[in-house]
Amino acid sequence: MDKFIVDGGVRLTGTVDISGAKNASLALMPACLLAPGTFTFRNTPNNRDLWTMSRLLGSMGVEMHLDGDVLTLDGSHLTSHEAPYDYVKQMRASIYVLGPLVARYGEARVSLPGGCNFGPRPVDLHLKGLEKLGASIEVEGGYIIAKADRLKGNHFHFDISSVGASVNIIMAAVLAKGHTTLTNVALEPEVTSVIDMLVSMGAKISGVGTTTLEIEGVDELRNTDVSTIPDRIEAATFLIAAAMTKGDVNVRKVAPQHLTAVTQALEDAGCTLDIGTDNIRISMDRNPDPVDITATIYPGYPTDSQAQWAAFMLTSTGAARIKDTIYPTRFGYVPELQRLGADIETGEGYCVVKGGAKLTGATVMSSDLRASASLVMAAMIAEGQTEILRVYHLDRGYEALEHKLGALGAVIRREKTEEF
Ligand code: UD1
Repeated sequence: MDKFIVDGGVRLTGTVDISGAKNASLALMPACLLAPGTFTFRNTPNNRDLWTMSRLLGSMGVEMHLDGDVLTLDGSHLTSHEAPYDYVKQMRASIYVLGPLVARYGEARVSLPGGCNFGPRPVDLHLKGLEKLGASIEVEGGYIIAKADRLKGNHFHFDISSVGASVNIIMAAVLAKGHTTLTNVALEPEVTSVIDMLVSMGAKISGVGTTTLEIEGVDELRNTDVSTIPDRIEAATFLIAAAMTKGDVNVRKVAPQHLTAVTQALEDAGCTLDIGTDNIRISMDRNPDPVDITATIYPGYPTDSQAQWAAFMLTSTGAARIKDTIYPTRFGYVPELQRLGADIETGEGYCVVKGGAKLTGATVMSSDLRASASLVMAAMIAEGQTEILRVYHLDRGYEALEHKLGALGAVIRREKTEEF
């Protein structure tokens, strides 16, 4: 296993380029199962979740080729309609193959994902939505078995706004016979990017950008060429890290319109932001004012950036409350930050970070992807050296994080470690 060794007391300065969005790529790639031919995905990020999705699609017979950040996939000759547990246990987004497989091939066998490090994460809406479109669903031996002669359009309301369920059901409805109305569809940019891709494949979808979609099913779709949107969570991580180290960083290749909740919070904290069309320059020359945030659905503050905000608030001049309405138990990073000396209290669905406590290097453990980012950030301002174990969590979603941070002045290196 790998660990990071980080020396504290740095100031980040310079320019960083943001990669394509992991969560968008994971949703776009399985759409290649909906039509024959070669699909081209540009600005594809290079991280562990992407490799897992590539291997999963490869195991089903999808042919692929990667040239820099251009990925081509061709699912014309599928050999299997199954997503085995070995892949799904590594990455929940494997469930995205479910909708396309049932819609196009009339059958799918996908392992149930189970829980995750920040609480129970059901997939009931994915299954209810497919049932509403006429699929029969059984769960047997830990696997979802979905079948349908041909899906039929219907009305489905998402009781909870869900990124994953929205993506899965939209991908299924585009090939269903007749008209589908979906209500309370998630508005996250990753969902919209899938809709845009489907439209470019010949899908008939109206209401894009609203929570109600009207979809007229088509008999077949065609291959396409898409560019992955910038990763708003990676961008948020670099913006917050820059501010936290009282740095001055130009974060390039971003979509500022996807980051308004984060940039607003940074401005409220006292940071200076210069927002361009595809870059954001941030600078900070003092300790931030405490700013409360509530992680909620888009365009609200993203749950995937709340751990990073908690780390930032360790340097604030007061107390800030971090609340997560999406995953109320997503505070696994708190005990690890406390090992560095952080003063944080937790309550039900929130924590309160009190700024100003002295942080000193220690050995800490990553518990999930974004929690790991908050540990790296805290380590950069702690006195002395911090070891962050199990950085495989980080590698799931950040491309070359240590190199990008290192280029901005962070003192961070990766080492192999033996864990008992
Ligand atoms: C996606 C993101 C993840 C992010 C999350 C919320 C990917 C690969 N992952 O995850 O990084 O943290 O959105 O922005 O894009 N829910 C149900 N039943 C369901 C589905 C979801 O109750 O069938 C609940 C979840 O437990 C959660 C809420 O709905 O409380 C939102 O989850 P959802 O948007 O589905 O998250 P994911 O798509 O899994």
